Amino acid sequence: MSVLPFDQRDGFIWLDGDFIPSADAKLHVLSHGLHYASCVFEGERAYGGRIFKSSEHSERFRASAELLDFKIPYSVAELDDIKQQIVSRNNFTNCYVRPVAWRGSEMMAVAAQQATIHVAIAAWDWPSMFDIATKMKGIRLDIAEYRRPDPLTAPCRSKAAGLYMICTISKHRAERRGYADAMMLDWQGRVAECTGANIFFATNGVLHTPIADCFLDGITRRTVIDLARRRGVEVVERRIMPEELTGFEECFICGTGAEVTPVSEIGPYKFTPGAIARALIDDYSAEVQPKQKAA
Ligand SMILES: Cc1ncc(COP(=O)(O)O)c(C=O)c1O
Repeated sequence: MSVLPFDQRDGFIWLDGDFIPSADAKLHVLSHGLHYASCVFEGERAYGGRIFKSSEHSERFRASAELLDFKIPYSVAELDDIKQQIVSRNNFTNCYVRPVAWRGSEMMAVAAQQATIHVAIAAWDWPSMFDIATKMKGIRLDIAEYRRPDPLTAPCRSKAAGLYMICTISKHRAERRGYADAMMLDWQGRVAECTGANIFFATNGVLHTPIADCFLDGITRRTVIDLARRRGVEVVERRIMPEELTGFEECFICGTGAEVTPVSEIGPYKFTPGAIARALIDDYSAEVQPKQKAA
């Protein structure tokens, strides 16, 4: 399947204050963000023309940068407005939205206190992270070689580009071995998350999910917890060891990209996509639709 490279696509990208043609949205090769990973980003989805939980993403974007010791020079309201404009100027109704911020070219050494902070916002069409037929049967997950780092080792609450090298290595290895994705353990060997999504398990009608203390506490994760509780489903956040996976009947992952995706296998452990995942897929699809404003 040939896919048009992102730098050759039509449409507009907002870069440092201007909406410009996508092909012109370039940065210099000597950019601190590229060499030293001083870069944070967001991943959001618009449904029916409106970005779901836009302000929560903008807040996390700014917080991610602060954890990397820089400040995004736009407020949450300004970011929300630009993101919404990028969706409409590109004539998207349903799409993925990608804000990114990085340190520029004024300084090329570890210290870059005076480097300019650049911000760009792009959007593209991205119907589903996984092939739809496979998704409903449940995807197969490998168990990653690398682990999520100790929070004393890395700013793990930041959606920092640097932290994604672990995810890319793990996802590539998983794909080479015939899996759709990989589940990563944390630095203590407990179940953590996938390379771009959080993870949930179910048994006896109760949902279990790892405590997000050393990996991204996803906005979708929090939404799913809320939706499950609204349905009266008990949700337990706790430490989960990999050996415990034999005791769960259902498993699913969730994230802005993955939405709610059932899992059928994790290495040697098997699950059957079932009623809880199906109910939450439906609840999530309804929740993300733009709400009519009360008259
Ligand atoms: C590593 C990782 N964990 C979890 C998530 C889920 O986060 P969210 O639901 O905010 O998209 C993502 C998605 O961006 C991710 O990349």
